[in-house]
Amino acid sequence: MTLEARELTVIYDGTAVVDGVSLTLPGGPFGLGLIGESGSGKTTVARCLLGLVAPTSGTVRFGGADVGGLRHSRPYRRAVQIVVQDTEGALDPRMRVGTAIAEVLRAHRMVPRGAEAERVTELLAEVGLTAEHAARFPHQLSGGQRQRAAIARALAVRPRFLVLDEPTSALDTTVQARILDLLRRLRAEHRLSCLLISHDLAVVEQLCPHVLVLHRGRVVEEGDLTEVLRDPRHPATRTLRDAVPRLTDAQSPPPPGQPRTPRR
Ligand SMILES: Nc1ncnc2c1ncn2[C@@H]1O[C@H](COP(=O)(O)OP(=O)(O)O)[C@@H](O)[C@H]1O
Ligand SMILES: [Mg+2]
Repeated sequence: MTLEARELTVIYDGTAVVDGVSLTLPGGPFGLGLIGESGSGKTTVARCLLGLVAPTSGTVRFGGADVGGLRHSRPYRRAVQIVVQDTEGALDPRMRVGTAIAEVLRAHRMVPRGAEAERVTELLAEVGLTAEHAARFPHQLSGGQRQRAAIARALAVRPRFLVLDEPTSALDTTVQARILDLLRRLRAEHRLSCLLISHDLAVVEQLCPHVLVLHRGRVVEEGDLTEVLRDPRHPATRTLRDAVPRLTDAQSPPPPGQPRTPRR
């Protein structure tokens, strides 16, 4: 099963905010990084993949079928899930975390009636939360716990593709690293194909060896992250790289007389 965008273009108010973007997510486990500064069109690409935005031109295909016609198809809506930045309020603030996940299980008839609570506990355990967290409201959780809960809810429908839109951008570095570890483990265990969207190369580096660089809606660079960093072809890539000093250090030669320090 493949999720594929071809020549996607989205025009808002006369401006192409996404301009001829093509990308392919094969079956998992797989990771592709979509990087670019704020406003470069990343979230709009994500929304097209989810069938939430209809492209002005171009296509998104899921298993060969145009998602425009699949918008209301249960298999497609289940197969492709998204996890967004915590600050965007992925979880309903008025609903207990367990209730929110149980509701998804019911809506998609994922478990027999009455078995929801048990499955909720299982899903929370998978992301490192306990049954006790199920009874809490989102604001009673830490940022990292809220992202774990959002991941559990996405997993509830047993997706094949996971679009991660800045999943750790609202978190501090330590928490961010733990969430990325979790995502790496879940990707392997559930054979997920992930599109990891971020402006932060240090995040993408953790999960996705292959990246696309988006700039003003266009893909300006594509390739293995190490290659792309070694010889960026576009200034936008250099800007993203230079925002992570560690990556820049690794690319430049060590000062004379000093050994190259290990990267970590
Ligand atoms: N619904 C919309 N209507 C008009 N402009 C939009 C809409 N959604 C996004 N945009 C604009 O499209 C551009 C790309 O936005 P977005 O895809 O959110 O970028 P990113 O996720 O890379 O920050 C931005 O200039 C944004 O203001
Ligand atoms: Mg965005």
